[in-house]
Amino acid sequence: MNARPQKIVCIGAGYVGGPTMAVIAARCPDVQVTVLDLNAARIAAWNSESLPVFEPGLPEVVRQVRGRNLHFLAQAQGVAALAEADVVFISVQTPTKTSGAGAGKASDLQYVEACARLIAEHARGHTIVVEKSTMPVRAAERIQQILSTTQTGGTFAVLSNPEFLAEGTAIRDLEQPDRVLIGGEDPAAVAALKSIYATWVAPEKILTTGLWSAELSKLAANAFLAQRVSSINALSALCEKTGAEVAEVAAVVGTDSRIGPKFLQASVGFGGSCFQKDLLSLIYLCEHHGLPEVAAYWQGVVDINEWQKHRFAKVVQQVAVSGRIAVLGLAFKKDTNDFRESAALAVCRSLLQAGLEVVAYDPRVDGSRFAAELGHPARFSVASTVSAALAGAGAVAVLTEWEEFKSIAWASVQLLPGAVICDGRNVVDRAAVQQAGYGLRVIGSAAP
Ligand code: UDX
Ligand code: ADP
Repeated sequence: MNARPQKIVCIGAGYVGGPTMAVIAARCPDVQVTVLDLNAARIAAWNSESLPVFEPGLPEVVRQVRGRNLHFLAQAQGVAALAEADVVFISVQTPTKTSGAGAGKASDLQYVEACARLIAEHARGHTIVVEKSTMPVRAAERIQQILSTTQTGGTFAVLSNPEFLAEGTAIRDLEQPDRVLIGGEDPAAVAALKSIYATWVAPEKILTTGLWSAELSKLAANAFLAQRVSSINALSALCEKTGAEVAEVAAVVGTDSRIGPKFLQASVGFGGSCFQKDLLSLIYLCEHHGLPEVAAYWQGVVDINEWQKHRFAKVVQQVAVSGRIAVLGLAFKKDTNDFRESAALAVCRSLLQAGLEVVAYDPRVDGSRFAAELGHPARFSVASTVSAALAGAGAVAVLTEWEEFKSIAWASVQLLPGAVICDGRNVVDRAAVQQAGYGLRVIGSAAP
């Protein structure tokens, strides 16, 4: 095989696979990249002007390379590409298991295993198989086991190359990564994959480790990030009791160069497809390996996050002057249309269970998909503007830090008199709310 791969296939055209392959194709015009997905509608969207993933900068990159050296194909049409591939990325979901051994904690590897079976069936010659999805430690062993059942005479090297991109900044994270991590035991395969990234990433930023270290490093990095958010969120509750301001505390703590200023923004709780799932996977691994104390340590990070979402929802219920609540922001963070595990899901569920009516607004999230996730409750509706969501509400819950929520003209909105704005992101213009005569509760600030 040529040392520099010429043909790449990625199985899974989701939030990770789509943007990652678009950037590889853009940076490596000499490499043909094919992205396959079982979901034909998703592939059709990748081939349209309305991409299935909202990500700043992504449409520009896709437009540049689609049809040139980036091809999105439904699995049924594109499976033949596997026979010619030098490298196959597995970039499918690894959700938390809902049944069987480890239910509620362990990662469900059924989608990854299906990919390994597909590769075993169709690959020819020598193929480098890359774990891109976040996997539990030693998942590569299972992939190797499945690949070894191949009947085609093909040979394989398995690498772990976890993705560190964050949604909303995916293109920047891919183009200028803090680091690229390649874990593997086969030096030729590691070198081949490295040659792809080395096209645009400085060599000192391409870290190589053993397979198990790479798999664990991804879980560890997400656990550390989630732990920072839970740490500042735990302190936000103490700030509310004592009159300390959590933003001031975070700013002071963050000036210590050993701690650093990033990821110390108190919030209504972290969401997204990764943090909770990866923490639970880590906890399961610790329990599985007979380390209950370590499991309990990381469980605390999850528990504080659950408590924070619940605590915030209770405040909204307590201060509301009517049964109609406006929810601003359904995405788990700004600049994405993703609401997986978002605080909004937990807060809306809690408000609806308490018998309240919720009118929600989000600039990017598909409201009908969000309503479907909640089970289409009768008291939940979606407004198409901020003012429509606010009209007649007795309380407002700000759950995502979208830029447009920073500049709401509170004096001209139609909330009920005495309504209270509950800011779960510390983004609302406090002076404007006060001038408009509404109440305000901000996460990490004592109630006035
Ligand atoms: C995360 C990791 O950052 C990324 O490296 C990994 O590849 C995937 O998981 P992502 O989930 O896309 O990325 O978003 P991230 O920016 O990490 O935010 C996660 C959650 O934490 C969001 O709900 C966000 O609002 C929240 N958060 C983040 C805070 O509440 N406060 C902060 O200071 C930072
Ligand atoms: P992530 O956030 O990790 O990218 P997503 O759920 O957004 O996860 O995307 C994963 C994609 O993988 C989905 O579009 C799903 O249809 C696809 N997928 C899952 N299993 C397979 C499979 N066996 N073959 C092809 N595509 C798959």
